[in-house]
Amino acid sequence: MNKAASLRFGEKSIELPLIEGSENELGINIKDLRAKTGLITVDPGYKNTGSCESAITFLDGEKGILRYRGYDIESLAQDADFLEVAYLLIFGELPTKEQLEKFLNDIKEESLVNEDLKKILESFPSTAHPMGVLSSLTSALTSFNPSSVNVDSEEEMYKAIVRIMGKLPVLVAWVFRKKEGLPLKYGDYSLGYVENIARMMFRKPNKEYIPNPVVDAALNKLLILHADHEQNCSTSTVRIVGSSHAGLFASISAGISALWGPLHGGANQAVVEMLEAIREDGGDIKHYMQRAKDKSDPFRLMGFGHRVYKNFDPRARIIKKAADEVLNDLGIDDPVLEIAKKLEEEALRDPYFVDRKLYPNVDFYSGIIYRAMGISTETFTVMFALGRLPGWIAQWREMRLNKEPIGRPRQIYVGENHRPFVPINRR
Ligand code: ACO
Repeated sequence: MNKAASLRFGEKSIELPLIEGSENELGINIKDLRAKTGLITVDPGYKNTGSCESAITFLDGEKGILRYRGYDIESLAQDADFLEVAYLLIFGELPTKEQLEKFLNDIKEESLVNEDLKKILESFPSTAHPMGVLSSLTSALTSFNPSSVNVDSEEEMYKAIVRIMGKLPVLVAWVFRKKEGLPLKYGDYSLGYVENIARMMFRKPNKEYIPNPVVDAALNKLLILHADHEQNCSTSTVRIVGSSHAGLFASISAGISALWGPLHGGANQAVVEMLEAIREDGGDIKHYMQRAKDKSDPFRLMGFGHRVYKNFDPRARIIKKAADEVLNDLGIDDPVLEIAKKLEEEALRDPYFVDRKLYPNVDFYSGIIYRAMGISTETFTVMFALGRLPGWIAQWREMRLNKEPIGRPRQIYVGENHRPFVPINRR
């Protein structure tokens, strides 16, 4: 096959080379388009635009495939430990036992957070959204760790990575505990990464903390499922902020803000709020299905649809099973789960959803699990951010190591043509 695309406009005709990925995906390389033709491409929402070549995550939205560094999400969620997956995403290979131990120990070494950060946390009103607080605290970390990363130094890069891997869980636990009115503490660093996160979050001052293996396993799985998803909104944000050579913490803080929105990571909060609203309103699922289909009504079925999965979201299958297991094991009878199941059943046979290939996404069930663990609705997305951290780091590292240029899209200007300034007394 000719590995180029031809573009004709007016009298001009140019050849644009194709780029082929390792899974045979093809893209048209338009790097020289403007220089050769004066034209740019316009693609709102970047639905057809690849921003980079990446070796981290492969997904095929039509076939419902998701792989990190070549490994299926199903087997990673089933058998791997979140920290192993983090290592895999960031450094490209599964770690040996020794490499994993070193990674964990180095992270533990860097898991102290400057106590002055507590003052910043205390100064937020109790009504502040945990995602806003987490983004601010992550940004504030920069002032306590001012050195910018010399990406040409393997050692400095590694140091920045273990720092953020060590400190973000502490911030996440503190944001959660502040919301719950619990004292801010550190964890027990003899524990594994995920087990320690659970302890930091759920330990009560008036009780001995007894780890719950079901909760730990579910948390491990959720964090793995959220760990990366190639060039989504928050990851593209991290890459674009980092492309200006802003530091890792600043780039991650921007990613957290991008993740906050209800069309992205905030969907898990929006899903549970929607399910609760349906329950309080008498549980009439058909009425809400009707509203979701009505174009004059802004209501959307939260947790349905995905920019790239147009068949099913492989993570949703795993999470649905995990939700059943966790609720059974914890003996929780959550009416919201029943509404979720009925809604899914209805939607999967409704032509509106079938024709538009709208299936439950990862967030349709994740909030239900977090709720069963005792995490408040507003804090769900904070947990998502914790899971996405290794993905953001891996993408940031790849972008810097590849020496990618600063991200700077162009535009087609559609505003006023040139006009003279009119002084205020003549307007
Ligand atoms: N409920 C009702 N209708 C929907 C929904 C929904 N959840 N999602 C899409 N549609 C409809 C649209 O109205 C549109 O209909 P039309 O063709 O008649 O105009 C069609 O399906 C295509 O939708 P788009 O918005 O163009 O699809 P896009 O790929 O841009 O958006 C998105 C994907 C943002 C996820 C969308 O499906 C949505 O808003 N879903 C609900 C929010 C959500 O669950 N977000 C989480 C995503 S997963 C994540 O970030 C981890």
